[in-house]
Amino acid sequence: MALLWYFASIHLILLLSMPKNNVAQHIKMRCIQKERVALLSFKQTLVDEFDILSSWDTHINCDCCNWRGVECTNTNSTTHQHIITLDLHGSYSYERYLMGEVSSSLTQLSYLNFLDLSFNQFDRIVLKDIASLLNLNYLNLSYNFHVYTPIPPHLGNLSKLSVLDLRG
Ligand SMILES: *[C@@H]1O[C@H](CO)[C@@H](O)[C@H](O)[C@H]1NC(C)=O
Ligand SMILES: *[C@@H]1O[C@H](CO)[C@@H](O)[C@H](O)[C@H]1NC(C)=O
Ligand SMILES: *[C@@H]1O[C@H](CO)[C@@H](O)[C@H](O)[C@H]1NC(C)=O
Repeated sequence: MALLWYFASIHLILLLSMPKNNVAQHIKMRCIQKERVALLSFKQTLVDEFDILSSWDTHINCDCCNWRGVECTNTNSTTHQHIITLDLHGSYSYERYLMGEVSSSLTQLSYLNFLDLSFNQFDRIVLKDIASLLNLNYLNLSYNFHVYTPIPPHLGNLSKLSVLDLRG
């Protein structure tokens, strides 16, 4: 019983010494609201068993340019930075990968030029959606073994594409 009290009080001390939420408000906000909302709804249909997207949380960090796998345009301006990179490749050797469905909210990220979703275990990726990201230069969807989908002619719309990897 005494031991239990000991651990409970340590827990309380740790909780009290945590920084408050308002820390986040002092961080420069570069992320565009519409794109942050798109990322959050993209996350909703994913199954993230390995907590890969734990930084994708407006309570912890509202600037989505600082979220894991996300990069924004690198101008000096403190506002209006579009998301240009989304690198969420998984790893089977380290057993870290995402599952679930890649939602069409991704199509909101129209400035995206780099998209890597390789080595995950998604159930569904709609290639027609991805083909609407007309600024894509690099597209890697390789080794998503659960996705069986015909390759639609729409991918031909990606005129800026220089790398396309659909292996596996
Ligand atoms: C950004 O800032 C650096 C130095 O602070 C400057 O050299 C550079 O030209 C700026 N870039 C743009 C695009 O304004
Ligand atoms: C695509 O991703 C896989 C796995 O992350 C990587 O091994 C491969 O080199 C990438 N393909 C290209 C063309 O970059
Ligand atoms: C993309 O290509 C398809 C057929 O290849 C076409 O029907 C569609 O209108 C095109 N979409 C855009 C946005 O250009």
